Amino acid sequence: MKIGIIIHSQTGNTLSVAEKLQDKLISEGHSVNIQRVTAVDDGQMEPSKVQLRGIPEISSYDVLIFGAPVRGFSLSAVMSAYLSQTRSLKEKKIFCYTTQFFPFPAMGGNRAMEQMKNICQSKGANIDGTGIVNWSNLRRGKMIKEIIDEISGLLSYQG
Ligand SMILES: Cc1cc2nc3c(=O)[nH]c(=O)nc-3n(C[C@H](O)[C@H](O)[C@H](O)COP(=O)(O)O)c2cc1C
Repeated sequence: MKIGIIIHSQTGNTLSVAEKLQDKLISEGHSVNIQRVTAVDDGQMEPSKVQLRGIPEISSYDVLIFGAPVRGFSLSAVMSAYLSQTRSLKEKKIFCYTTQFFPFPAMGGNRAMEQMKNICQSKGANIDGTGIVNWSNLRRGKMIKEIIDEISGLLSYQG
């Protein structure tokens, strides 16, 4: 399948998960690109004020994996602005993940994920899976592996 991993990542955490995912999915025969969403001012916290600079084109992908950090107990404003300007996410397999510093999903990750899902669903998406990586949790490596295994399992099952 043709897979796009579309991420916002400033300090590299979300990117490092994307790279592990890419390696695994390529080893299973998929075509996988990582594309980065960027903004003129990465620190802008208000989605409506974000000026996007890197705007990945996603129409050619069968599968989209969106990854973004939690910022201020919310989905990063850059990813929020990017998802809000996409046209349609219908008829694609969609996975979403977030990374956050704090050790438990209740500390912003769950809220950010709800926001991410809501925007995707407002674009017609059916969400096939989600994951949260808590960077300061001792189980971080396991969390990353679980997300990768879930996505690869769902994609291999459905061909
Ligand atoms: C402005 C800002 C706000 C943040 N707010 C939160 C937060 O509310 N909860 C949390 O767990 N981590 C928070 N973080 C930490 C990031 O979510 C975490 O380090 C993430 O993995 C960074 O991803 P990246 O390296 O891909 O940019 C914040 C980081 C920044 C820069």
